Amino acid sequence: MRGVTVIQHPLVQHNLTRLRDKRTGPQEFRRVMSEVAALIIYEATRSFGVRPHSVVTPIGTSRGSQLKREVILVPVLRAGLGMMDSILQLIPHARVGFIGLKREEKSLRALFYHKSLPKDLSRFEVILIDPMLATGGSAVSAMDLLSELGAKHVRLVNLVAAPEGIAKVRSRYPELPIFTAAVDKKLNRHGYIVPGLGDAGDRLFGV
Ligand code: PRP
Ligand code: URA
Repeated sequence: MRGVTVIQHPLVQHNLTRLRDKRTGPQEFRRVMSEVAALIIYEATRSFGVRPHSVVTPIGTSRGSQLKREVILVPVLRAGLGMMDSILQLIPHARVGFIGLKREEKSLRALFYHKSLPKDLSRFEVILIDPMLATGGSAVSAMDLLSELGAKHVRLVNLVAAPEGIAKVRSRYPELPIFTAAVDKKLNRHGYIVPGLGDAGDRLFGV
């Protein structure tokens, strides 16, 4: 699938399997999601732009590089929070914005309840974080908001994606790079990913 990177690393797949297991309780679920997020982000940031940057070491001059753009993490509440801390540990200088979206149970439409972002995102490398890409409604709404704020360099980081969600995001944002640990079979009639891992927010927070 063009623009979709499925991260097949054995540690990612091992951890994803533990997340899928319904016997995994909130405490372990949080820890494992955090671990897997760190592994995924390593791959998802591989194409970050860099520019040359020289420094003076105690011995001489070294020609190195530094990131070209500021980085902002944008977790989609609630479930995106489960991936945020470990990513922030790897990119400690990143800023953090928040988007609160909740799917309506019947219509499956994603409704905003919180936005906390800089007014202009054009200079940022934006990492949009949401473990689940189901119908794609939340991801498209989040992307619409990021685009309105001028974001030009965005990547979407998921754990589990449904073909339906990928297709929806692709139709509106054909160039958006998507990183995920799995593309599952389908959605069920309630809009849940099959086999998926259930409701990510509920499993993370036990509510
Ligand atoms: C879940 C999930 C995504 C969204 C995906 O959030 O974390 O944000 O559903 O579904 P979609 O692709 O069909 O929009 P939910 O709205 O259940 O909120 P929560 O994270 O607070 O549980
Ligand atoms: N949101 C989730 O948390 N899980 C799904 O399977 C679909 C949407």
